Amino acid sequence: MNMAGKGYMWLDGRFVKFEDARVNILTHSLQYGSGIFEGVRCYDTMNGPAVFRMHDHMKRFMNSAKIYGMPINFTQKQLEDAVCGTVSKNKLKSAYIRPFAFYNDVGIGFSTKGKTTSVAIAALEFGRLFGESKGLKCKVSSWQRINSAILPVEAKASGNYLNSIIASKEAQDSGYDEAILMSDSGKTVAEGPGENIFVVQDGEIITPPKSADILLGITRDSIIKLAASLGIKVHERNIRKEELYTSDEAFFTGTAAEIQAITSVDSRQVGNGRQGPVTGRLSDEYSKIVKGENKKFAGWLTPIG
Ligand SMILES: Cc1ncc(COP(=O)(O)O)c(C=O)c1O
Repeated sequence: MNMAGKGYMWLDGRFVKFEDARVNILTHSLQYGSGIFEGVRCYDTMNGPAVFRMHDHMKRFMNSAKIYGMPINFTQKQLEDAVCGTVSKNKLKSAYIRPFAFYNDVGIGFSTKGKTTSVAIAALEFGRLFGESKGLKCKVSSWQRINSAILPVEAKASGNYLNSIIASKEAQDSGYDEAILMSDSGKTVAEGPGENIFVVQDGEIITPPKSADILLGITRDSIIKLAASLGIKVHERNIRKEELYTSDEAFFTGTAAEIQAITSVDSRQVGNGRQGPVTGRLSDEYSKIVKGENKKFAGWLTPIG
C-alpha cells in the first residue's frame, strides 16, 4: 500500500488489495477501541530497505496483546516475517508500518470472552509526522496522561489514544502544534500524545522515567543509548512543568516524529527558540543509525530479505 491506498495489506496470513481489506461497522474493535497496534519504520539503508528495531516493536506488540489478554493467532516470528513481506510486496524502499490486531467479532456487547481476533499489517510511504517543522509550539494539556490505575499505559491499545486525541485537539484548537501531557495530578511531565519527551540542561539530557506513566518508547531507548555512546549524560527523572520553560532545549522522540525539536511551551520560548545543538547532534546521529551508517548500532536494523 502507498499513500494513494494502492497496493497490498497483509491480513491474517495472506495479502489482500488495500481496498478489499474492509470490516463491518459493528466490528468490536471499531466500536470499543479494543485493538492493539504498533508503529514501525523501514528505512532505505546502504544495504537496501531495513526495519528499525523490529524485534523490540513486535515484542511490544505481543506484550500489548498479552496485557489485554487478547489472543493472537501468530507467533512474533511469523509477524516479523509478515512485516518484511508487506514492505517487499509493496516494493517500498522506506515505509511506516502499522501492525494492528483487532477483535473481528461483529455484534453488540463489549465482553471479549470467546471472541476471535485478526491481524492486519499495512506499509505506506510516510514522511515525518510534523513535516518540515523546525520547532514545535507546544501547550501543556489540561488533560492528564492516563495512568496504569485506569488503563495500562504500556500497551499500545487503540482506546488509549483517545487521551492523545483529546489533548492534541485542545492544543491545536488553541493555535499550538502539539500537546504535552502531565501525570501525577499535574506534578510531573509525562510525554507528548504520541511521543516521549526530553529536555536538555547544561549539555545533559533528561527524560521522564517509567513511573511517569509514559509509553516506553523505542526511539526514547535508542536516544538514551545513543547519547551514552556519545558521552552525553542521560538522567531518567521527573521533570516539573516549569523546567519545560527554563531548559536549554526540548525535543520529542517517536517512530513517527523521529527527533523533533520543541521551541516553545505555553508561549514561553525554549532556549533561543530554535532547534538546539544537542537536539541537532542527536537527530543527525539518529539519522545515520537508521540509514545503517553507524556500525555500532547495525544490530538495530533487520534487512528486508
Ligand atoms: C503515547 C506514545 N508515547 C511515545 C511514543 C513513542 O514510542 P516509539 O518511540 O516506540 O515510537 C508513542 C509512539 O509509539 C506513543 O504513542
